[in-house]
Amino acid sequence: MKKNIGIIATVLLATGLTAAALTADYDARIADNEILTPAPAKLPRINGPKLYGARPGKKFIYRIPTQGERPIRFSVAGLPESMKLNAEQGIITGTVPSKRGDYALVFSAENSFGKAERPFRLVVGDKLALTPPTGWNHWGGHASNISDEIIRAAAELVVNRGLADVGFQYIGIDDCWMRLSPSEYKKVSKDPDGFYMMKHKGIDFDKMVGEPRDADGNIIPNDYFPDMKGLVDNIHSLGLKAGIYSSPGPLTCQNLEGSRGHELQDAKQYAEWGFDLLKYDRCTAGGIINQLKKKENPLPLLKEFWRSMVGFLEESDRDIVVNLCQYGHNESWKWAPSIGMQSWRISGDLNHHINDYFKAALRIATDLREYSKPGQWNDPDFMYVGRQVQTRFNHFEKSKPTGLTGNQEYQYVSLWAMIAAPFFFSTDVLNVDDFTIGLLSNPEVMDISQDELGRVADVIRNEDGRVVLAKKLEDGSIAVALFNTDPEKEAVIEVEWTDFGGCCEMDVFDVWRQKDLGVYEPGISVRLSPHGVALFRIKG
Ligand code: GLA
Repeated sequence: MKKNIGIIATVLLATGLTAAALTADYDARIADNEILTPAPAKLPRINGPKLYGARPGKKFIYRIPTQGERPIRFSVAGLPESMKLNAEQGIITGTVPSKRGDYALVFSAENSFGKAERPFRLVVGDKLALTPPTGWNHWGGHASNISDEIIRAAAELVVNRGLADVGFQYIGIDDCWMRLSPSEYKKVSKDPDGFYMMKHKGIDFDKMVGEPRDADGNIIPNDYFPDMKGLVDNIHSLGLKAGIYSSPGPLTCQNLEGSRGHELQDAKQYAEWGFDLLKYDRCTAGGIINQLKKKENPLPLLKEFWRSMVGFLEESDRDIVVNLCQYGHNESWKWAPSIGMQSWRISGDLNHHINDYFKAALRIATDLREYSKPGQWNDPDFMYVGRQVQTRFNHFEKSKPTGLTGNQEYQYVSLWAMIAAPFFFSTDVLNVDDFTIGLLSNPEVMDISQDELGRVADVIRNEDGRVVLAKKLEDGSIAVALFNTDPEKEAVIEVEWTDFGGCCEMDVFDVWRQKDLGVYEPGISVRLSPHGVALFRIKG
C-alpha cells in the first residue's frame, strides 16, 4: 500500500472474480510480447559483477559491461601492472597478478553526457565464477547445424544488440564441432530417428565425416570450424570469452568424438585455442560410470574419473570454467565443487520439458539451495528463449518459438536471476526479435543475477498458484519476485515487508520497468497477468 494506507485484503486470487474486481496498489500486468526494459540512456552506466575470481598468473580478459552512447572513454583505478586497458573499447587484457588477495579496482566510463563509476573487486585465489557465469550457448537455437559463421554471429549479436553491455560474457559452442568418424556415420545414418543430426536437413556430412584425430591423437574440428584459433581470437577481440564442449565418454551425445583417453591432449588443445569454459557432458560415459558405481567405494573413483579433465585444464595458462552436464545423476552437487567444477546441471535437458522451468527453479530454491554459493552453482540448464531448433520429439529445419508466452519468458528470466543460476541463454542468433533482446538486456535484472552475495532466493510463499521469492542483496536491499503461475486467470498478490525481513516504509523499484514506485508501507498488493511476474527491489 502506498505510504500510510492500511492493508485491507490478504491475498486475492481471481477465482471466479471478474478482472475489474481485482483491486491492487500496483498494476504489473504485461501485455503480450510487451517490451518492459527501457532503452539505455545516453549517459554511461557500468554493469556486470562487482566481484570477480581469477587464479594467479593466468591470462585475463574482461570487457567492462557499459551502456551509454559511444564513444565512451574508459579508465580503471587500481589496475594491476600485469594488466592493460584498451580505453576506447573498455577491454582489459593481460595476466592475473601472481600475488593472491583482493584487488580493489574502480571502473570509470565517460562520454559527452557524463561519467559513471563502479567498483570491481578482483579476488586472486583458487576460485572462479564468484558470481554466476553469463553468456549464450548454441544448443537450443542451432543444435547440430552449427558453424564458425554462426558462432561469430552470436558474438556480434551479443555486442551489437547491447547484451555485452549488461554483462553477458561467454559465447559457448556445444556439441557437433568435432568430426563424425566414418564408422559412426554408418550407424547414425541407419537410425535417422535416433540422432538429431540426421533430422537436420541442412547438414552437409561431407564436412563432418572424417577421422576425428590425427596420427598423434590430436582432435580435429569438422570443416564447419576451419579455424578454431581464429574464431576464439575473434571472440576475444570483442572482449568476450569462449566456451567449448566435450564428453568424458568416447563419443558425444550426437556420436561425435569425445575425450575418453585423450583428456590431457584435449585440455591442452582447448587452452591453445584460447577457450575459457568447458561444458563437459556425460553422454556415452554412462557405461563407464555404471561400472565404477559397482565398485565397493565408488565415489572416489567417480570423482577421479571426472576430475582428470579438470585437473589438466587447471594446469593450462588460462582460467577455464567447467560446467558439468551429468543430468543430476549421482547427486553431482555434493561432489562437483570439490573437484574444481564451477557449475553442474541438476537434471536432463530443460528444452525437452520447457514448461518445467518453474519446477526446476523452485528445486534450486529449496532442496538444492545449500549447494549454490560463490564459485559453485546449481545449473537448471539454459534460458531457452526466443526461437529454438529442437524440442524433445522434434528437430526443426527452421527454428520456432518455444510456445511459452511473453509473460512466461519474463518469469523464466526473473527466476534464473533470483536463484543465482548460470545466466546463459540459448536462442537462434540469426532470428532474434526485439522482445528477446529486451528480455535479456535489462541491467537491473542482471544486477540481481550477479549480486556479490551470491544468494539463492528464499521461497516465502508457494500456494494456490501464487509464488513469492525474496533474495537479500549486497547493498542491503531485497529483491522480491511475485509470480502468478495460473495460465488463465489474473491474480492479485499482496505481501508485507515483514514477510522477508523488511519493515515499515520501503522504497519500491520495479526492476523490469526500471521505475521508482515510491514508498509503500507495510507492503504492496500487485496485479499480475496470467503467468505474470513482478520483480521489485525494495529498500528501507
Ligand atoms: C545432452 C545435453 C544437452 C546438449 C546435448 C548435445 O543432451 O544435456 O545440453 O549438450 O547433449 O548433444
